[in-house]
Amino acid sequence: MSGIRAGLLSCLALALPAAAGAGETGSARHDGLLESMGASVSAYKDYMLNCGGCHRYDGEGVSRNAVPSFRNSIGLFTRLPEGREYMIRVPGAAQSQLGNAELADVLNWMVANYSPGELAPDFRPFTAGEVGAARPYRFDDVVAARRRLEARLRQLGLTPAPYLYGSN
Ligand code: HEC
Repeated sequence: MSGIRAGLLSCLALALPAAAGAGETGSARHDGLLESMGASVSAYKDYMLNCGGCHRYDGEGVSRNAVPSFRNSIGLFTRLPEGREYMIRVPGAAQSQLGNAELADVLNWMVANYSPGELAPDFRPFTAGEVGAARPYRFDDVVAARRRLEARLRQLGLTPAPYLYGSN
């Protein structure tokens, strides 16, 4: 437990500069919400055990393995309804061992810690109900889905992290 606590602290320390940036651009309404989403110890543990092996403990991903970075990027997807669905339906999330409520908490924890400055201005946290509704619809082609979202975001002047999966 103390190891996890120490890990949590160092993780939050990493996230602090980004969170401070969010305060400047995001609404004040976000601040308390983001703080509670990002401080969930159970979501932190679930992320580390189920996602962190590939996405890394700092959310940077591993570009040589085509695991995209979440940092200053993953929050952008919350600006589109289909972007929220995408976050739930990607294989690593949808096919994880996590229950719907746990996965919702992990997604909320991720955006709060890795990409608070990019969130939709009217961001609402993911819920178990939203996760449960989208999760069964697995992508036939996740690469094409990401490309479509990327194009939509670019039309809004927004650029998500590089996505190299499927491009070799
Ligand atoms: C076995 C490695 C692996 C694990 C474990 C994993 N992922 Fe992923 N994840 C990937 C890869 C590779 C991609 C890029 C391909 C894709 O979109 O599926 C990705 C993409 C994503 C994306 C889209 C990011 C973007 O910028 O398009 C999200 C969101 C995501 N993963 C969430 C999760 C969550 C949440 C978990 C844990 C519950 C998780 N992943 C576990 C490998 C993994």
